Amino acid sequence: MCGIVGYNGDRKASEIVYRGLKKLEYRGYDSAGIATAGNPTVKVEKGEGTIDDVSPEKKDGTSGVGHTRWATHGGVNDTNAHPHRDCTGDIAVVHNGIINNYEELKEKLENRGHEFKSETDTEVIPHLLEEQLEDEKPLHEAAQNVADTIEGSYAVVAVLDTGELVAFKNESPLALGVADEEFFLASDVTPFLEHTDEAIFLEDGEVITLNGDYQIFQNGEEVDREPRKVDWDAEEACKEGHEHFMEKEIKEQPQTVKKAAFQDETDMKEAVKMVEDAETVYLTGCGTASFAASLGAKYLREADVEVVTEQSHELEYRTDEINEDDLVIAVSQSGETADLLSTLDDSPAPTLAVVNVVGSTLARQSEHTLFVNAGPEIGVASTKAFTAQIAVLKLVQYALQDELEEGRRSILETAEKLDEVLRKNEGLMDDISSYLQEKNHVFTIGRDKGHEMAQEAALKLKELSYIHVEGFPGGEFKHGNLALIEEGVPVISFLKDTGYEDAISNTLEAKSRGADIIGVGSEPVDKFRFFIEIPKDPNSEILEIVPFQMIAYLTSVKKGNDPDKPRNLAKSVTVK
Ligand code: F6R
Repeated sequence: MCGIVGYNGDRKASEIVYRGLKKLEYRGYDSAGIATAGNPTVKVEKGEGTIDDVSPEKKDGTSGVGHTRWATHGGVNDTNAHPHRDCTGDIAVVHNGIINNYEELKEKLENRGHEFKSETDTEVIPHLLEEQLEDEKPLHEAAQNVADTIEGSYAVVAVLDTGELVAFKNESPLALGVADEEFFLASDVTPFLEHTDEAIFLEDGEVITLNGDYQIFQNGEEVDREPRKVDWDAEEACKEGHEHFMEKEIKEQPQTVKKAAFQDETDMKEAVKMVEDAETVYLTGCGTASFAASLGAKYLREADVEVVTEQSHELEYRTDEINEDDLVIAVSQSGETADLLSTLDDSPAPTLAVVNVVGSTLARQSEHTLFVNAGPEIGVASTKAFTAQIAVLKLVQYALQDELEEGRRSILETAEKLDEVLRKNEGLMDDISSYLQEKNHVFTIGRDKGHEMAQEAALKLKELSYIHVEGFPGGEFKHGNLALIEEGVPVISFLKDTGYEDAISNTLEAKSRGADIIGVGSEPVDKFRFFIEIPKDPNSEILEIVPFQMIAYLTSVKKGNDPDKPRNLAKSVTVK
């Protein structure tokens, strides 16, 4: 979590860093700040809120760093905002991650006379660097020593009054963008895509220095790393006339689902071989990606594969059950989710990644990767990445059944229907969101694959509208949850072919106790207050979830929330 940006070149760093931070706000937006080098020391402007609230004047100086924060250590206030400085004011540091041993380091530094201003773990870094530089060590060596002293997960960028930048990382992402005599550092490539598509993804333990050129060091030795092309279009990371990224990303899905279906045949064959060779296949992810993983498990079972599925933060406690002849299919948008990556670290099995972000840690660490090709997803709530993940997992099912081409065609046809689903239900989605915005509690239910639909619809709605929404299997209702139903409580029911009659009964059991029932399915039923009709389709999950993404978006806007930045959340959850 937290977004960091660094710039070293010949333009005004404050402007470039500011624009970069705007692209990283999805990683956190509790507080923000920018530090620029030059004349006579490093200047820092920071505070609570987004970078627009802090509104730094665009200072001179052609080197700088910036930060947009999702708080971990220390409350949300001006002092705890990054960048943090050393005692001399010549060094300013931004950091993404957690320093586990900061309390012990802080005590030692205080005993040596260093003064701390904030409650953050980050502040130990500029003071440690200050001590190293006092000894007149080369910058990369000083940074290496700091990296060797701190424990935890971190991506750190420091700017010095000389205009030099230094960065190092462990278990948190950091990318270097390389243009003509200009260099960019960022938590992901989106801040610098408008300037360059040449990037290097830094590895754990590497130190990089920037001063009119870049040098990368590993264990004190300079290493040769060539930039490579990143094929994400800068245009895709803009709102393109939509009020919010989320709206744009929901509406992009007819294209992104198609892109997901265009998996390279060799890549698919390799994925199929990995699945077929595995004794047991584990599917895992967190949040929305875990619901995609759980659906993927159901798809693979239909192709006779033995599958276990569990959310990564729980699978972590059972990795001793996984052996090297198994396979873990790891599903993620960002490819940086700490709960997922640490589970994979403990797993002896090879990993097949189903991931969106090119160059992410997951993609780099996995034995094989299927990119879902959804393009940059900026809205914090996952939308197009989810349908792209479902499309890829469904394609794996088709490929396992020797029906790759038929499967691809079938998913393309599903994608064609998405526009119509959104268009036809426009008025209805508007009515449902107006109705829901007045409610305090909502339940979503479904059977079989309708269960994952119910869970994902509940997550979208709660994280965007802040209404209490719970999703569970329809059959579970009468085992306790029905006690919460009273007059006017909405129950949203996903009606799939499997378990259709039982799902109808579960829904009517709620209605007879006063619930307002909302249905989703291919056959409208007149007892429902609202019914969203979806065409019959072999890949219907893709069609069923999209109206609920839109309903969640509209409810959020109507309640005056910011759908791109729901409160307390961040997109890349790089802490455990
Ligand atoms: C919810 C949402 C989150 C993510 C989860 C995993 O809308 O986006 O639940 O799905 O934090 O993130 P990734 O997919 O990046 O691993």
